[in-house]
Amino acid sequence: MKIAFIASECYPFVKTGGLADVVGSLSQALADLGHKVVVILPFYQAVSSKNLEISAFFDEMCVHMGCGIEEWCSVKKGNSGKNVEVFFIESNKYFLREGIYCDSFNNDFQDNPYRFAFFSRAALQLLRDMDFRPDVIHVHDWQTAFVCAYVKTWDWGESGIDRVRTVLTIHNIGYQGIYGADCLDYCGFDWKYFNSGVFEDYGRVNFLKGGIHFADYVTTVSPKYAAETLDGSQSYGLAPYLKNKGERYVGILNGVDYSVWDPKTDKTIPENYSARSFKGKAVCKKALQQRFSLFEDDNIPVIGVVSRFAHQKGLDILAKTVERIVDSMLVQFAVMGSGDNDLENFFRWLSYERAGKVGCFTGYSDEMSHLVEAGSDFFIMPSRYEPCGLNQIYSLKYGTLPIVRNTGGLSDTITQYDEATGSGTGFKFDYLSPDAIFDTVGWAVSTYFDRPKHFTAMRKAAMKCDFSWKNSAKEYEKIYTA
Ligand code: ADP
Ligand code: GLC
Repeated sequence: MKIAFIASECYPFVKTGGLADVVGSLSQALADLGHKVVVILPFYQAVSSKNLEISAFFDEMCVHMGCGIEEWCSVKKGNSGKNVEVFFIESNKYFLREGIYCDSFNNDFQDNPYRFAFFSRAALQLLRDMDFRPDVIHVHDWQTAFVCAYVKTWDWGESGIDRVRTVLTIHNIGYQGIYGADCLDYCGFDWKYFNSGVFEDYGRVNFLKGGIHFADYVTTVSPKYAAETLDGSQSYGLAPYLKNKGERYVGILNGVDYSVWDPKTDKTIPENYSARSFKGKAVCKKALQQRFSLFEDDNIPVIGVVSRFAHQKGLDILAKTVERIVDSMLVQFAVMGSGDNDLENFFRWLSYERAGKVGCFTGYSDEMSHLVEAGSDFFIMPSRYEPCGLNQIYSLKYGTLPIVRNTGGLSDTITQYDEATGSGTGFKFDYLSPDAIFDTVGWAVSTYFDRPKHFTAMRKAAMKCDFSWKNSAKEYEKIYTA
């Protein structure tokens, strides 16, 4: 098959979260199955500053938006050294700025609807102009959801683009791209679509909702999250529209790329290790304790956090109990992430207030995120909702036991510890409250100290888990051809 991915992020070119990891690794997994895969991305400033091999492809491309507006851009081609072709839409007006979706104060760019409507149109036009007629166009989240609408409603002439199957994957329904209706003129859609079955959402335009309407198939990133979005508990209002898709809405569990995330081969960590010997993990733990200014003591368990600091992640609830935890248990926290200013300030403050017990890094660093996975004993994700979650899957591979809320992909990927037998791969709690977090952390820490055999057995079981794309990429293949 010929498959075109159109997305707003892709590792290793540009990444703010798990979306990038999935776009990068799924496209590769499909190419490895023998498909011809191209990925189209915006040419952000962050991409240009990376040391990647990128060359000019089209010097000029005119993109026709609504109301006769012409946007001029150029196209670049990236070389990832792999068998996936990557193209970039370059528009200084929309992408030459610091930040991907928001500025350094965490405020969304005001022109985001214009940026991503333009990008969606431009990506399709690139497919047409370079004569790549895919069998499937696979788009991701609200930023590229309008691609499905453009495919079905614009005149694509002889190119046949209007007959290409579209698949929209929802990585996070909490972000729908809802904007003032006046952007619809620029986007270039007939106002007849401004009704509650298509784009309209309480008088505004909802990009994701429009995408759901026009996509041939809609998927999300774990079976449990698919159920939670259908029963309305986690759908942010879109359950009825997902229900309308019937069998054309499914949950496919994300896979991960073990060539990037495996302690046996990870080039970024101080020492490699495997389930046979945890000697290297102890070296990583020491390095982590040093980097996060924690007391250097191999006998104190470390709990890691690597996260966007967003409401979704439930870290505000952790914040309510973390002092009580470190005051009453022998345990340390290595917290890294960025986003919400209050949370950043809180954890920074706490790293002084409980120096040696809580360490904090606010910012983005791929290398440090690997060190937290490798050096920690536990990894906590108290998410309000979690479509899939990749960090708990990475944690399993690094023998770092996840402590997670029983929701979405966290639920699908972690097996509850059974104190009677010592089986399981992590610690799950249902109700999100400071007390539930306190108790579950207490359970994990007591397992570390009081039932070391169970702890080691769990580590080994966790490291054996296989969440590679092997199975899930095949599920996508089925949808592409169903
Ligand atoms: P989400 O996509 O909701 O943020 P996931 O668990 O699916 O959550 O994926 C998060 C990805 O982003 C992981 O690869 C994680 O390591 C990475 N990540 C999150 N925050 C940071 C950070 N501050 N620095 C480096 N990587 C980060
Ligand atoms: C989103 C979700 C996360 C998921 C990721 C990749 O950002 O929040 O749970 O793992 O997308 O699909």
